[in-house]
Amino acid sequence: MPDSTHDAHCAPFVPLPLALIRRLGAATLVVALAGSFVPAAPALARTPPPKAVLDASAVAVPDRYSADTAQQIFAAGGNAVDAAVAIAFTLAVTYPDAGNIGGGGFMTLYVDGKPYFLDYRERAPQQATRDMYLDDKGNPVPGMSLVGFRAVAVPGTVDGMWEAQRRFGKLKWKQVLAPAIKYATDGFVVEPWLQKRAEYASKSFAGKTNFSVYFAGLKAGATFRQPELAQTLSRIASDGGREFYEGKTADLISSQMYGHGLLSKTDLVQYKAVWRQPVTADWNGYRIVTAPPPSSGGVGLIQLLKMKADLKPAFAGLDLNSSAYIHLVAQIEDRVFADRQQYMGDPDSYHVPVDKLIDDAYLAQRADEVTPDEVPGATPVKPGLGDSMPERAETTHFSVVDKWGNAVSNTYTLNGPFGSGVVVDNAGFALNDEMDDFVAKAGTPNQFGVTSGDVNTIAPGRRPLSSMTPTILLKDGKVSLVIGTPGGSRIFTSIFQVMTNLYDFGMPPADALAAMRFHHQLLPPKTIYWEPYHPITGELAGQLKGLGYTLEGQKFNGDVQMIRVEGTTPEPAADPRGAGVGRVFH
Ligand code: DON
Repeated sequence: MPDSTHDAHCAPFVPLPLALIRRLGAATLVVALAGSFVPAAPALARTPPPKAVLDASAVAVPDRYSADTAQQIFAAGGNAVDAAVAIAFTLAVTYPDAGNIGGGGFMTLYVDGKPYFLDYRERAPQQATRDMYLDDKGNPVPGMSLVGFRAVAVPGTVDGMWEAQRRFGKLKWKQVLAPAIKYATDGFVVEPWLQKRAEYASKSFAGKTNFSVYFAGLKAGATFRQPELAQTLSRIASDGGREFYEGKTADLISSQMYGHGLLSKTDLVQYKAVWRQPVTADWNGYRIVTAPPPSSGGVGLIQLLKMKADLKPAFAGLDLNSSAYIHLVAQIEDRVFADRQQYMGDPDSYHVPVDKLIDDAYLAQRADEVTPDEVPGATPVKPGLGDSMPERAETTHFSVVDKWGNAVSNTYTLNGPFGSGVVVDNAGFALNDEMDDFVAKAGTPNQFGVTSGDVNTIAPGRRPLSSMTPTILLKDGKVSLVIGTPGGSRIFTSIFQVMTNLYDFGMPPADALAAMRFHHQLLPPKTIYWEPYHPITGELAGQLKGLGYTLEGQKFNGDVQMIRVEGTTPEPAADPRGAGVGRVFH
Protein backbone atom coordinates (compact mmCIF):
# COMPACT_ATOMS: atom_id res chain seq x y z
CA MET A 1 0.00 0.00 0.00
CA PRO A 2 1.35 3.47 -0.74
CA ASP A 3 2.26 5.79 2.05
CA SER A 4 2.61 9.51 2.10
CA THR A 5 3.76 12.06 4.58
CA HIS A 6 3.13 15.78 4.91
CA ASP A 7 6.67 16.51 5.81
CA ALA A 8 8.10 19.85 4.90
CA HIS A 9 11.54 18.42 5.64
CA CYS A 10 11.29 15.55 3.21
CA ALA A 11 14.41 15.14 1.16
CA PRO A 12 13.80 16.35 -2.37
CA PHE A 13 13.86 13.71 -5.07
CA VAL A 14 17.40 12.99 -6.12
CA PRO A 15 17.74 11.51 -9.59
CA LEU A 16 19.39 8.14 -9.78
CA PRO A 17 23.12 8.51 -10.41
CA LEU A 18 23.91 7.69 -13.99
CA ALA A 19 26.61 5.25 -12.98
CA LEU A 20 23.98 3.26 -11.10
CA ILE A 21 21.57 3.39 -14.02
CA ARG A 22 24.29 1.97 -16.24
CA ARG A 23 25.01 -0.81 -13.74
CA LEU A 24 21.32 -1.68 -13.51
CA GLY A 25 21.22 -1.84 -17.26
CA ALA A 26 23.99 -4.37 -17.46
CA ALA A 27 22.41 -6.46 -14.71
CA THR A 28 19.07 -6.49 -16.54
CA LEU A 29 20.54 -7.98 -19.62
CA VAL A 30 21.86 -10.88 -17.61
CA VAL A 31 18.56 -11.38 -15.74
CA ALA A 32 16.46 -11.01 -18.87
CA LEU A 33 18.51 -13.55 -20.73
CA ALA A 34 18.20 -15.97 -17.82
CA GLY A 35 14.50 -15.33 -17.18
CA SER A 36 11.41 -16.98 -18.60
CA PHE A 37 10.17 -13.96 -20.57
CA VAL A 38 13.04 -13.74 -22.98
CA PRO A 39 11.91 -12.61 -26.42
CA ALA A 40 12.35 -15.13 -29.20
CA ALA A 41 15.03 -13.02 -30.80
CA PRO A 42 17.22 -10.73 -28.68
CA ALA A 43 17.14 -7.04 -29.56
CA LEU A 44 19.57 -6.24 -32.33
CA ALA A 45 22.30 -3.81 -31.47
CA ARG A 46 21.54 -0.65 -33.41
CA THR A 47 24.05 1.93 -34.46
CA PRO A 48 22.75 5.47 -34.33
CA PRO A 49 23.30 7.74 -37.30
CA PRO A 50 26.88 8.93 -37.02
CA LYS A 51 26.22 12.54 -36.19
CA ALA A 52 23.63 14.71 -34.57
CA VAL A 53 21.35 16.58 -36.96
CA LEU A 54 19.69 18.80 -34.34
CA ASP A 55 21.31 21.18 -31.85
CA ALA A 56 19.70 19.33 -28.96
CA SER A 57 17.18 16.75 -27.84
CA ALA A 58 13.91 18.01 -26.36
CA VAL A 59 10.69 16.97 -24.70
CA ALA A 60 7.27 18.44 -23.98
CA VAL A 61 5.79 16.39 -21.16
CA PRO A 62 2.85 16.72 -18.76
CA ASP A 63 4.85 16.93 -15.52
CA ARG A 64 8.26 17.99 -14.25
CA TYR A 65 9.22 14.55 -12.97
CA SER A 66 9.02 13.01 -16.41
CA ALA A 67 11.15 15.88 -17.75
CA ASP A 68 13.80 14.94 -15.16
CA THR A 69 13.57 11.35 -16.32
CA ALA A 70 14.13 12.39 -19.93
CA GLN A 71 17.18 14.34 -18.83
CA GLN A 72 18.71 11.23 -17.22
CA ILE A 73 17.98 9.08 -20.24
CA PHE A 74 19.50 11.49 -22.75
CA ALA A 75 22.52 11.98 -20.47
CA ALA A 76 23.00 8.20 -20.47
CA GLY A 77 23.11 8.22 -24.29
CA GLY A 78 19.49 7.15 -24.88
CA ASN A 79 17.54 8.10 -27.97
CA ALA A 80 13.97 9.45 -28.34
CA VAL A 81 12.46 5.96 -27.96
CA ASP A 82 14.39 5.25 -24.76
CA ALA A 83 13.28 8.62 -23.42
CA ALA A 84 9.65 8.03 -24.44
CA VAL A 85 9.50 4.63 -22.73
CA ALA A 86 11.15 6.00 -19.59
CA ILE A 87 8.70 8.93 -19.58
CA ALA A 88 5.73 6.59 -19.96
CA PHE A 89 6.80 4.46 -16.99
CA THR A 90 7.56 7.58 -14.92
CA LEU A 91 4.13 9.06 -15.59
CA ALA A 92 2.60 5.75 -14.46
CA VAL A 93 4.03 6.70 -11.05
CA THR A 94 3.93 10.50 -10.88
CA TYR A 95 0.83 11.19 -13.00
CA PRO A 96 -1.30 8.24 -11.94
CA ASP A 97 -4.65 9.61 -13.09
CA ALA A 98 -3.60 9.15 -16.72
CA GLY A 99 -0.03 7.87 -16.92
CA ASN A 100 -0.35 4.15 -16.64
CA ILE A 101 0.64 0.56 -16.97
CA GLY A 102 -3.01 -0.50 -16.62
CA GLY A 103 -4.24 1.24 -19.78
CA GLY A 104 -3.19 1.57 -23.39
CA GLY A 105 -2.37 3.98 -26.15
CA PHE A 106 -0.66 4.81 -29.40
CA MET A 107 2.87 5.77 -30.36
CA THR A 108 3.77 7.47 -33.63
CA LEU A 109 7.49 7.32 -34.33
CA TYR A 110 9.98 8.63 -36.83
CA VAL A 111 13.22 6.66 -36.53
CA ASP A 112 16.22 6.77 -38.81
CA GLY A 113 14.16 8.56 -41.44
CA LYS A 114 11.16 6.18 -41.42
CA PRO A 115 7.65 6.55 -39.96
CA TYR A 116 6.13 3.86 -37.70
CA PHE A 117 2.99 3.45 -35.62
CA LEU A 118 2.54 1.22 -32.61
CA ASP A 119 -1.00 0.30 -31.50
CA TYR A 120 -1.03 -0.76 -27.86
CA ARG A 121 -4.72 -0.04 -27.43
CA GLU A 122 -6.64 -2.13 -24.90
CA ARG A 123 -8.82 -4.99 -26.18
CA ALA A 124 -12.15 -6.35 -24.98
CA PRO A 125 -11.75 -9.51 -22.87
CA GLN A 126 -12.80 -12.80 -24.46
CA GLN A 127 -15.84 -12.99 -22.20
CA ALA A 128 -17.12 -9.56 -23.31
CA THR A 129 -20.41 -9.49 -25.14
CA ARG A 130 -22.14 -6.95 -27.29
CA ASP A 131 -24.91 -6.21 -24.79
CA MET A 132 -22.93 -6.49 -21.57
CA TYR A 133 -23.78 -2.96 -20.44
CA LEU A 134 -27.53 -3.14 -21.17
CA ASP A 135 -30.33 -3.77 -18.69
CA ASP A 136 -33.34 -6.09 -19.21
CA LYS A 137 -35.02 -3.43 -21.31
CA GLY A 138 -32.01 -3.03 -23.57
CA ASN A 139 -30.91 0.32 -22.15
CA PRO A 140 -27.32 1.11 -21.10
CA VAL A 141 -26.84 0.87 -17.31
CA PRO A 142 -25.37 4.24 -16.28
CA GLY A 143 -21.76 4.02 -15.14
CA MET A 144 -21.36 0.32 -15.77
CA SER A 145 -18.79 0.73 -18.53
CA LEU A 146 -16.98 3.43 -16.56
CA VAL A 147 -16.50 2.30 -12.97
CA GLY A 148 -15.44 -0.99 -11.42
CA PHE A 149 -14.29 -4.41 -12.61
CA ARG A 150 -16.56 -4.81 -15.62
CA ALA A 151 -15.29 -1.58 -17.21
CA VAL A 152 -11.77 -2.94 -17.58
CA ALA A 153 -10.30 -3.88 -20.96
CA VAL A 154 -7.04 -5.82 -21.44
CA PRO A 155 -4.19 -3.34 -20.84
CA GLY A 156 -1.63 -2.74 -23.58
CA THR A 157 0.85 -0.19 -22.26
CA VAL A 158 3.56 -2.54 -20.98
CA ASP A 159 3.67 -4.62 -24.15
CA GLY A 160 3.70 -1.41 -26.20
CA MET A 161 6.68 -0.04 -24.31
CA TRP A 162 8.45 -3.41 -24.47
CA GLU A 163 7.95 -3.61 -28.25
CA ALA A 164 9.07 -0.03 -28.91
CA GLN A 165 12.13 -0.17 -26.71
CA ARG A 166 13.27 -3.57 -27.98
CA ARG A 167 12.90 -2.52 -31.57
CA PHE A 168 14.39 0.96 -31.43
CA GLY A 169 15.93 1.69 -28.03
CA LYS A 170 19.66 1.98 -27.46
CA LEU A 171 19.75 1.54 -23.69
CA LYS A 172 19.00 -1.56 -21.66
CA TRP A 173 15.38 -2.16 -20.70
CA LYS A 174 16.21 -1.90 -17.01
CA GLN A 175 17.84 1.47 -17.53
CA VAL A 176 14.65 3.00 -18.89
CA LEU A 177 12.58 1.67 -15.99
CA ALA A 178 15.03 2.80 -13.30
CA PRO A 179 13.75 6.39 -12.89
CA ALA A 180 10.13 5.20 -12.50
CA ILE A 181 11.15 2.61 -9.91
CA LYS A 182 13.03 5.29 -8.01
CA TYR A 183 9.99 7.59 -7.95
CA ALA A 184 7.75 4.74 -6.79
CA THR A 185 10.19 3.68 -4.06
CA ASP A 186 11.33 7.05 -2.72
CA GLY A 187 8.18 8.94 -3.57
CA PHE A 188 7.54 12.26 -5.21
CA VAL A 189 6.03 15.47 -3.90
CA VAL A 190 2.36 15.78 -4.83
CA GLU A 191 1.22 18.99 -6.47
CA PRO A 192 -2.18 20.60 -5.80
CA TRP A 193 -3.62 19.67 -9.21
CA LEU A 194 -3.02 15.97 -8.56
CA GLN A 195 -4.70 16.15 -5.15
CA LYS A 196 -7.74 17.80 -6.81
CA ARG A 197 -7.95 15.12 -9.48
CA ALA A 198 -7.70 12.34 -6.92
CA GLU A 199 -10.42 13.93 -4.76
CA TYR A 200 -12.67 14.33 -7.78
CA ALA A 201 -12.15 10.71 -8.82
CA SER A 202 -12.62 9.34 -5.31
CA LYS A 203 -16.17 10.73 -5.24
CA SER A 204 -17.22 8.65 -8.23
CA PHE A 205 -15.43 5.54 -6.94
CA ALA A 206 -16.60 5.80 -3.28
CA GLY A 207 -18.03 2.50 -2.07
CA LYS A 208 -17.52 0.91 -5.50
CA THR A 209 -13.79 0.29 -5.82
CA ASN A 210 -10.62 0.09 -3.72
CA PHE A 211 -9.38 3.39 -5.17
CA SER A 212 -8.96 5.28 -1.89
CA VAL A 213 -6.96 2.45 -0.27
CA TYR A 214 -4.17 3.32 -2.69
CA PHE A 215 -4.66 6.94 -3.61
CA ALA A 216 -6.06 8.70 -0.51
CA GLY A 217 -2.50 9.81 0.26
CA LEU A 218 -2.30 12.07 -2.79
CA LYS A 219 -2.18 15.29 -0.75
CA ALA A 220 -0.50 18.46 -1.96
CA GLY A 221 2.94 18.81 -0.45
CA ALA A 222 3.08 15.19 0.73
CA THR A 223 5.68 12.74 -0.48
CA PHE A 224 3.75 9.88 -2.06
CA ARG A 225 5.45 6.48 -2.11
CA GLN A 226 4.11 3.40 -3.89
CA PRO A 227 6.08 0.35 -2.70
CA GLU A 228 3.80 -2.21 -4.38
CA LEU A 229 4.01 -0.40 -7.69
CA ALA A 230 7.79 -0.25 -7.21
CA GLN A 231 7.82 -4.04 -6.90
CA THR A 232 5.66 -4.45 -9.99
CA LEU A 233 7.94 -2.19 -12.01
CA SER A 234 11.00 -4.00 -10.66
CA ARG A 235 9.57 -7.35 -11.79
CA ILE A 236 8.88 -5.91 -15.24
CA ALA A 237 12.39 -4.43 -15.30
CA SER A 238 14.04 -7.72 -14.36
CA ASP A 239 11.91 -10.17 -16.31
CA GLY A 240 10.90 -8.10 -19.34
CA GLY A 241 7.59 -6.67 -20.54
CA ARG A 242 5.89 -10.05 -20.86
CA GLU A 243 6.07 -10.42 -17.07
CA PHE A 244 2.97 -8.20 -16.92
CA TYR A 245 1.08 -10.67 -19.14
CA GLU A 246 2.52 -14.00 -18.08
CA GLY A 247 4.22 -13.58 -14.71
CA LYS A 248 3.29 -12.67 -11.15
CA THR A 249 1.70 -9.37 -12.21
CA ALA A 250 -0.63 -11.26 -14.55
CA ASP A 251 -1.55 -13.58 -11.67
CA LEU A 252 -2.32 -10.63 -9.39
CA ILE A 253 -4.53 -9.01 -12.03
CA SER A 254 -6.44 -12.15 -12.92
CA SER A 255 -6.98 -13.34 -9.35
CA GLN A 256 -8.43 -9.96 -8.41
CA MET A 257 -10.70 -10.00 -11.45
CA TYR A 258 -11.88 -13.54 -10.84
CA GLY A 259 -15.58 -13.57 -10.04
CA HIS A 260 -15.91 -9.79 -10.57
CA GLY A 261 -14.63 -8.75 -13.96
CA LEU A 262 -14.22 -10.39 -17.32
CA LEU A 263 -10.49 -10.06 -17.74
CA SER A 264 -8.70 -13.42 -17.42
CA LYS A 265 -5.13 -14.64 -17.49
CA THR A 266 -5.76 -15.99 -21.01
CA ASP A 267 -6.66 -12.46 -22.16
CA LEU A 268 -3.37 -11.22 -20.76
CA VAL A 269 -1.30 -14.02 -22.28
CA GLN A 270 -2.91 -13.36 -25.67
CA TYR A 271 -2.37 -9.58 -25.64
CA LYS A 272 0.11 -8.26 -28.19
CA ALA A 273 0.76 -4.70 -29.30
CA VAL A 274 0.54 -4.27 -33.10
CA TRP A 275 2.76 -2.34 -35.52
CA ARG A 276 0.55 -0.66 -38.12
CA GLN A 277 1.04 1.63 -41.07
CA PRO A 278 0.54 5.20 -39.87
CA VAL A 279 -1.95 7.34 -41.81
CA THR A 280 -0.06 9.84 -43.95
CA ALA A 281 -1.10 12.80 -46.05
CA ASP A 282 0.42 15.86 -47.66
CA TRP A 283 -0.83 19.19 -46.40
CA ASN A 284 0.47 22.71 -46.71
CA GLY A 285 3.96 21.57 -47.72
CA TYR A 286 4.21 19.08 -44.86
CA ARG A 287 3.88 15.33 -44.67
CA ILE A 288 1.51 14.41 -41.83
CA VAL A 289 2.22 11.11 -40.06
CA THR A 290 -0.56 10.24 -37.67
CA ALA A 291 -2.75 7.62 -36.01
CA PRO A 292 -4.67 5.05 -38.11
CA PRO A 293 -7.70 3.07 -36.85
CA PRO A 294 -8.51 1.97 -34.19
CA SER A 295 -8.07 5.69 -33.72
CA SER A 296 -10.46 8.00 -35.48
CA GLY A 297 -8.12 10.89 -34.71
CA GLY A 298 -5.65 10.74 -37.57
CA VAL A 299 -8.36 10.54 -40.22
CA GLY A 300 -10.35 13.24 -38.39
CA LEU A 301 -7.35 15.56 -38.21
CA ILE A 302 -6.53 15.18 -41.90
CA GLN A 303 -10.18 15.72 -42.86
CA LEU A 304 -10.32 18.90 -40.77
CA LEU A 305 -7.09 20.31 -42.16
CA LYS A 306 -7.84 19.49 -45.78
CA MET A 307 -11.41 20.73 -45.76
CA LYS A 308 -10.26 23.97 -44.16
CA ALA A 309 -7.61 24.32 -46.88
CA ASP A 310 -10.27 23.64 -49.53
CA LEU A 311 -12.33 26.45 -48.04
CA LYS A 312 -9.49 28.99 -48.22
CA PRO A 313 -11.61 31.57 -50.07
CA ALA A 314 -14.41 31.32 -47.49
CA PHE A 315 -11.94 31.66 -44.60
CA ALA A 316 -10.02 34.50 -46.26
CA GLY A 317 -10.08 37.62 -44.13
CA LEU A 318 -11.91 35.99 -41.22
CA ASP A 319 -10.41 36.63 -37.79
CA LEU A 320 -9.36 33.56 -35.84
CA ASN A 321 -12.24 32.44 -33.62
CA SER A 322 -14.66 35.09 -34.88
CA SER A 323 -18.26 33.84 -35.04
CA ALA A 324 -18.03 33.46 -38.83
CA TYR A 325 -14.82 31.45 -38.46
CA ILE A 326 -16.30 29.19 -35.76
CA HIS A 327 -19.41 28.70 -37.90
CA LEU A 328 -17.36 27.36 -40.84
CA VAL A 329 -15.20 25.13 -38.65
CA ALA A 330 -18.31 23.72 -36.93
CA GLN A 331 -19.73 22.69 -40.30
CA ILE A 332 -16.48 20.94 -41.18
CA GLU A 333 -16.57 19.20 -37.78
CA ASP A 334 -20.13 17.97 -38.37
CA ARG A 335 -18.90 16.15 -41.46
CA VAL A 336 -15.88 14.67 -39.71
CA PHE A 337 -17.96 13.35 -36.81
CA ALA A 338 -20.64 11.96 -39.14
CA ASP A 339 -17.96 9.90 -40.89
CA ARG A 340 -16.40 8.89 -37.58
CA GLN A 341 -19.71 7.57 -36.34
CA GLN A 342 -20.41 5.55 -39.46
CA TYR A 343 -17.11 4.17 -40.62
CA MET A 344 -14.54 4.06 -37.85
CA GLY A 345 -13.73 1.07 -35.66
CA ASP A 346 -11.14 -1.64 -35.06
CA PRO A 347 -9.46 -2.34 -38.42
CA ASP A 348 -9.00 -5.98 -37.40
CA SER A 349 -12.80 -6.37 -37.22
CA TYR A 350 -13.92 -4.10 -40.07
CA HIS A 351 -12.52 -2.65 -43.21
CA VAL A 352 -12.20 1.05 -42.40
CA PRO A 353 -12.11 2.99 -45.70
CA VAL A 354 -9.22 5.22 -44.66
CA ASP A 355 -8.05 6.04 -48.20
CA LYS A 356 -11.52 7.09 -49.29
CA LEU A 357 -12.07 9.15 -46.14
CA ILE A 358 -8.94 11.23 -46.71
CA ASP A 359 -9.18 11.31 -50.50
CA ASP A 360 -8.68 14.86 -51.84
CA ALA A 361 -11.63 14.77 -54.24
CA TYR A 362 -13.95 13.41 -51.55
CA LEU A 363 -12.92 16.07 -49.07
CA ALA A 364 -13.23 18.83 -51.67
CA GLN A 365 -16.77 17.69 -52.36
CA ARG A 366 -17.60 17.60 -48.63
CA ALA A 367 -16.03 21.05 -48.15
CA ASP A 368 -18.24 22.33 -50.96
CA GLU A 369 -21.29 21.72 -48.79
CA VAL A 370 -20.01 24.19 -46.17
CA THR A 371 -21.39 27.70 -46.54
CA PRO A 372 -21.34 30.88 -44.46
CA ASP A 373 -25.15 31.09 -44.82
CA GLU A 374 -25.93 27.68 -43.37
CA VAL A 375 -28.44 27.75 -40.50
CA PRO A 376 -27.02 25.40 -37.83
CA GLY A 377 -28.95 22.15 -37.78
CA ALA A 378 -31.14 23.05 -40.79
CA THR A 379 -29.65 20.40 -43.07
CA PRO A 380 -28.85 17.12 -41.29
CA VAL A 381 -25.26 16.10 -41.94
CA LYS A 382 -24.86 12.49 -43.08
CA PRO A 383 -21.77 10.32 -43.46
CA GLY A 384 -20.26 11.09 -46.84
CA LEU A 385 -19.40 7.70 -48.34
CA GLY A 386 -22.96 6.39 -48.45
CA ASP A 387 -24.00 3.20 -46.68
CA SER A 388 -21.24 1.27 -45.97
CA MET A 389 -19.19 9.34 -30.04
CA PRO A 390 -17.90 11.19 -26.89
CA GLU A 391 -15.05 9.76 -24.70
CA ARG A 392 -13.93 11.31 -21.32
CA ALA A 393 -10.84 12.38 -19.30
CA GLU A 394 -8.09 11.13 -18.46
CA THR A 395 -5.34 10.69 -20.95
CA THR A 396 -1.94 12.22 -21.37
CA HIS A 397 0.43 13.00 -24.19
CA PHE A 398 4.16 13.62 -24.51
CA SER A 399 6.40 14.57 -27.43
CA VAL A 400 10.09 13.75 -27.77
CA VAL A 401 12.83 14.49 -30.31
CA ASP A 402 16.45 13.49 -30.09
CA LYS A 403 19.47 15.16 -31.60
CA TRP A 404 19.72 12.39 -34.20
CA GLY A 405 16.44 13.57 -35.69
CA ASN A 406 14.22 10.78 -34.32
CA ALA A 407 10.83 11.63 -32.83
CA VAL A 408 8.16 10.00 -30.68
CA SER A 409 4.62 11.28 -30.29
CA ASN A 410 2.84 9.25 -27.62
CA THR A 411 -0.69 9.46 -26.25
CA TYR A 412 -1.86 6.90 -23.70
CA THR A 413 -4.78 6.65 -21.36
CA LEU A 414 -6.79 5.03 -18.60
CA ASN A 415 -9.82 6.69 -20.26
CA GLY A 416 -11.51 8.21 -17.18
CA PRO A 417 -9.43 9.83 -14.41
CA PHE A 418 -7.75 6.86 -12.69
CA GLY A 419 -9.64 4.60 -15.12
CA SER A 420 -12.14 2.19 -13.61
CA GLY A 421 -10.98 3.05 -10.08
CA VAL A 422 -9.97 -0.58 -9.58
CA VAL A 423 -6.41 -0.83 -8.30
CA VAL A 424 -4.63 -4.17 -8.61
CA ASP A 425 -4.06 -5.33 -5.03
CA ASN A 426 -0.42 -5.95 -4.18
CA ALA A 427 0.59 -4.52 -7.55
CA GLY A 428 -0.41 -0.91 -6.93
CA PHE A 429 -1.71 0.39 -10.27
CA ALA A 430 -5.13 1.45 -11.56
CA LEU A 431 -6.89 -0.40 -14.36
CA ASN A 432 -8.53 1.39 -17.27
CA ASP A 433 -12.23 1.80 -18.10
CA GLU A 434 -11.59 1.73 -21.85
CA MET A 435 -14.67 -0.45 -22.44
CA ASP A 436 -16.65 2.81 -22.40
CA ASP A 437 -15.11 3.74 -25.76
CA PHE A 438 -17.21 1.02 -27.35
CA VAL A 439 -20.80 1.87 -28.13
CA ALA A 440 -22.91 0.12 -25.44
CA LYS A 441 -25.92 0.35 -27.73
CA ALA A 442 -25.65 1.51 -31.34
CA GLY A 443 -26.55 5.19 -31.57
CA THR A 444 -26.26 5.88 -27.81
CA PRO A 445 -23.63 8.46 -26.91
CA ASN A 446 -20.73 7.63 -24.57
CA GLN A 447 -19.19 9.91 -21.96
CA PHE A 448 -17.78 12.20 -24.63
CA GLY A 449 -21.16 12.56 -26.33
CA VAL A 450 -20.01 10.63 -29.40
CA THR A 451 -21.71 7.55 -30.70
CA SER A 452 -21.18 4.88 -33.31
CA GLY A 453 -23.18 2.40 -35.25
CA ASP A 454 -22.45 -1.32 -35.36
CA VAL A 455 -18.88 -0.68 -36.36
CA ASN A 456 -17.85 0.00 -32.74
CA THR A 457 -19.94 -2.51 -30.79
CA ILE A 458 -18.36 -4.81 -28.20
CA ALA A 459 -16.92 -8.13 -29.32
CA PRO A 460 -14.28 -10.37 -27.75
CA GLY A 461 -10.78 -9.17 -28.53
CA ARG A 462 -11.97 -6.07 -30.38
CA ARG A 463 -10.34 -2.69 -29.77
CA PRO A 464 -12.64 0.22 -28.88
CA LEU A 465 -12.59 3.21 -31.20
CA SER A 466 -10.29 5.96 -29.99
CA SER A 467 -9.71 9.62 -30.73
CA MET A 468 -6.08 9.71 -29.65
CA THR A 469 -3.98 11.37 -32.34
CA PRO A 470 -0.23 11.34 -31.70
CA THR A 471 1.09 13.15 -34.77
CA ILE A 472 4.39 14.04 -36.42
CA LEU A 473 4.82 16.52 -39.27
CA LEU A 474 7.73 16.15 -41.65
CA LYS A 475 9.21 18.75 -43.95
CA ASP A 476 11.57 17.45 -46.62
CA GLY A 477 11.96 14.19 -44.70
CA LYS A 478 12.86 15.90 -41.42
CA VAL A 479 10.80 16.23 -38.26
CA SER A 480 9.10 19.59 -38.11
CA LEU A 481 6.39 19.20 -35.46
CA VAL A 482 5.55 16.58 -32.83
CA ILE A 483 2.13 17.10 -31.29
CA GLY A 484 -0.72 15.48 -29.36
CA THR A 485 -3.12 15.95 -26.45
CA PRO A 486 -5.67 14.27 -24.20
CA GLY A 487 -9.34 15.28 -24.45
CA GLY A 488 -11.44 12.41 -25.81
CA SER A 489 -13.31 13.54 -28.90
CA ARG A 490 -11.73 17.00 -28.39
CA ILE A 491 -8.31 15.57 -29.18
CA PHE A 492 -8.18 16.02 -32.92
CA THR A 493 -10.21 19.22 -32.93
CA SER A 494 -7.67 20.67 -30.46
CA ILE A 495 -4.68 19.55 -32.52
CA PHE A 496 -6.35 20.96 -35.62
CA GLN A 497 -6.76 24.34 -33.93
CA VAL A 498 -3.18 24.51 -32.69
CA MET A 499 -1.88 23.50 -36.14
CA THR A 500 -3.97 26.14 -37.87
CA ASN A 501 -2.81 28.71 -35.34
CA LEU A 502 0.78 27.77 -36.15
CA TYR A 503 0.61 27.44 -39.91
CA ASP A 504 -2.39 29.45 -41.12
CA PHE A 505 -2.02 32.31 -38.66
CA GLY A 506 1.78 32.14 -38.23
CA MET A 507 1.64 32.25 -34.42
CA PRO A 508 4.67 31.33 -32.33
CA PRO A 509 4.24 28.01 -30.47
CA ALA A 510 3.38 29.52 -27.07
CA ASP A 511 0.67 31.74 -28.58
CA ALA A 512 -0.66 28.92 -30.73
CA LEU A 513 -1.17 26.88 -27.56
CA ALA A 514 -2.57 29.72 -25.47
CA ALA A 515 -5.17 30.84 -28.02
CA MET A 516 -8.84 30.14 -27.31
CA ARG A 517 -10.08 26.69 -28.33
CA PHE A 518 -13.66 25.62 -28.94
CA HIS A 519 -15.22 22.29 -29.79
CA HIS A 520 -18.13 21.16 -31.90
CA GLN A 521 -19.20 17.66 -32.90
CA LEU A 522 -22.23 16.24 -34.59
CA LEU A 523 -24.01 15.54 -31.30
CA PRO A 524 -25.49 17.35 -29.54
CA PRO A 525 -26.45 19.37 -32.62
CA LYS A 526 -25.86 23.10 -32.91
CA THR A 527 -23.67 23.17 -29.80
CA ILE A 528 -20.38 25.02 -29.46
CA TYR A 529 -18.39 24.02 -26.38
CA TRP A 530 -16.16 26.61 -24.75
CA GLU A 531 -13.42 26.05 -22.19
CA PRO A 532 -12.79 27.67 -18.81
CA TYR A 533 -9.35 28.81 -19.99
CA HIS A 534 -10.98 31.12 -22.55
CA PRO A 535 -14.72 31.32 -21.99
CA ILE A 536 -16.84 32.48 -24.92
CA THR A 537 -18.64 35.52 -23.57
CA GLY A 538 -19.85 38.97 -24.59
CA GLU A 539 -20.11 39.91 -28.23
CA LEU A 540 -18.82 36.60 -29.60
CA ALA A 541 -21.33 34.66 -27.50
CA GLY A 542 -24.12 36.91 -28.75
CA GLN A 543 -23.08 36.45 -32.38
CA LEU A 544 -22.90 32.67 -32.12
CA LYS A 545 -26.30 32.51 -30.45
CA GLY A 546 -27.57 34.80 -33.19
CA LEU A 547 -26.38 32.26 -35.76
CA GLY A 548 -28.42 29.57 -33.97
CA TYR A 549 -25.84 27.89 -31.75
CA THR A 550 -26.22 26.85 -28.13
CA LEU A 551 -23.13 27.55 -26.02
CA GLU A 552 -22.03 24.96 -23.52
CA GLY A 553 -19.14 25.15 -21.03
CA GLN A 554 -16.87 22.14 -20.68
CA LYS A 555 -14.25 21.51 -18.02
CA PHE A 556 -11.43 20.61 -20.31
CA ASN A 557 -10.09 21.32 -23.74
CA GLY A 558 -6.83 19.49 -23.90
CA ASP A 559 -3.28 19.63 -22.61
CA VAL A 560 -1.25 19.83 -25.81
CA GLN A 561 2.45 18.96 -25.60
CA MET A 562 4.36 19.82 -28.75
CA ILE A 563 7.81 20.38 -30.16
CA ARG A 564 8.38 22.48 -33.23
CA VAL A 565 11.70 22.10 -34.99
CA GLU A 566 12.92 25.29 -36.65
CA GLY A 567 15.95 24.57 -38.80
CA THR A 568 18.04 22.47 -36.43
CA THR A 569 16.58 23.88 -33.22
CA PRO A 570 13.84 22.08 -31.28
CA GLU A 571 11.33 24.38 -29.57
CA PRO A 572 9.22 22.47 -27.04
CA ALA A 573 6.04 24.07 -25.75
CA ALA A 574 3.62 22.86 -23.09
CA ASP A 575 -0.02 23.86 -22.93
CA PRO A 576 -0.60 26.63 -20.38
CA ARG A 577 -3.81 24.82 -19.42
CA GLY A 578 -1.82 22.06 -17.67
CA ALA A 579 1.29 21.47 -15.57
CA GLY A 580 3.43 20.44 -18.52
CA VAL A 581 7.06 21.25 -19.09
CA GLY A 582 9.08 21.83 -22.25
CA ARG A 583 12.78 21.14 -21.89
CA VAL A 584 15.79 21.14 -24.19
CA PHE A 585 18.87 18.97 -23.55
CA HIS A 586 22.14 20.10 -25.11
O1 DON B 1 -9.16 6.70 -26.64
C1 DON B 1 -9.81 7.71 -26.49
O2 DON B 1 -10.10 8.45 -27.40
C2 DON B 1 -10.25 8.10 -25.10
N1 DON B 1 -10.28 6.96 -24.24
C3 DON B 1 -9.36 9.17 -24.59
C4 DON B 1 -9.84 9.74 -23.30
C5 DON B 1 -9.30 11.08 -23.05
O3 DON B 1 -8.61 11.65 -23.84
C6 DON B 1 -9.68 11.71 -21.80
N2 DON B 1 -8.80 12.82 -21.51
N3 DON B 1 -8.97 13.88 -21.13
